[in-house]
Amino acid sequence: MIKKTLEKIVDLEYNQDELEEVLDVLIKKNLTQGEKVREFEDLLSKYLGVKYCVVVNSGTSALYLALLSLGIEENDWVITTSYSFVATANVIELLKARPIFIDIDIRDFNISIDILEKTLKDLDKKNLLKKVKVILPVHLFGFPVNPYVYELSRRYGIWVLDDAAGALGTKINDIFIGKFADLTCFSFHPRKIITTGEGGCIVTDSYEIYSKLILLRNHGLGLVDNNLDLFLPGFNFRLTEFQAALGIIQLKKIESIINKRIQIFENYVNLFKLNDLDVVFQEAIDGSRVAIQNFCFLLPKIMLGKRDTLINFLYENGVEAKVGTYHIPLTNYYSRKYNYKKGDFPITDLVNELAISIPFHSKLSYEKQVFIINLIKKFWELYY
Ligand SMILES: Cc1ncc(COP(=O)(O)O)c(C=O)c1O
Repeated sequence: MIKKTLEKIVDLEYNQDELEEVLDVLIKKNLTQGEKVREFEDLLSKYLGVKYCVVVNSGTSALYLALLSLGIEENDWVITTSYSFVATANVIELLKARPIFIDIDIRDFNISIDILEKTLKDLDKKNLLKKVKVILPVHLFGFPVNPYVYELSRRYGIWVLDDAAGALGTKINDIFIGKFADLTCFSFHPRKIITTGEGGCIVTDSYEIYSKLILLRNHGLGLVDNNLDLFLPGFNFRLTEFQAALGIIQLKKIESIINKRIQIFENYVNLFKLNDLDVVFQEAIDGSRVAIQNFCFLLPKIMLGKRDTLINFLYENGVEAKVGTYHIPLTNYYSRKYNYKKGDFPITDLVNELAISIPFHSKLSYEKQVFIINLIKKFWELYY
């Protein structure tokens, strides 16, 4: 039996301000290619401290355009993580390039820096490094990748494209994710830190890349002497004006949203400890401020095989829960195409079986958190 009042995994942080701004755009009937998109881009660039920002209609479009702008094509190799949302790898595959998956670090669920370094060394020895055009790390659930990745990319002369879909607002030593890589992509999907419904953006400090992105977002059309001309085949990946209006108000509240999320994360951690529930949390690297997107933890190994039973138990008691994200090499498509099997990415195998995400959003009350932890405790007592 499913309880009617399901505590959902996300809830949206918007109120009258957002509604009025969106309504205003709708009333003025200027729905696309107007001033709101430019204002949103300006505000995002200022917030992150980057030179250029291009907003698009999703985080996936952002990643796809970012790879295109770097000239990625058939047979190029792109190194990425084995544990992420499928879009991270799909954009590589759609350009007929080859994703080279790297296992993750159990501490932060992000690409393992040690395996990455070893892989780069091996490829160098085999004279295969020239095939690798981009490293595409993911700052999973807002937790930053070890910044050593940027040093490695400089050492080996490879671009870094950061998939920071869920990491808008994360900083390392007071510098925002967005400033470190050659290009960084964010998503504004409702499960992310701020939302425009669907939406995303790419930020960069390179004018050359920015100019390409602007063309690619808009069919490849650009202005010359006040006339439009076609410079390369592009897409319509534009964001609407009313989405940008929503984004502008959301962005003005981002610091308060992040602070509430950090508080809720800490409450959860304390409640788990208080109840002697020995789960494993994602770790933030030293000096970081994490814009936490999702509360995902690992059950102890002794509970292997019980995670989905817990998800069902929570659901039956009115609480939505989900797995972490995707073990991409083991999905139907990638395992068939590249012959991946269990054991090729052992840490991802483990995390994939033990990870669980529970309700996490800036409006989650302490009482609800206590209720959720008490349910988990009840399950623990039945199965541990
Ligand atoms: C890590 C990661 N990359 C890319 C995306 C794609 O973003 P969008 O849903 O805005 O297309 C997501 C969205 O869930 C994501 O979590």
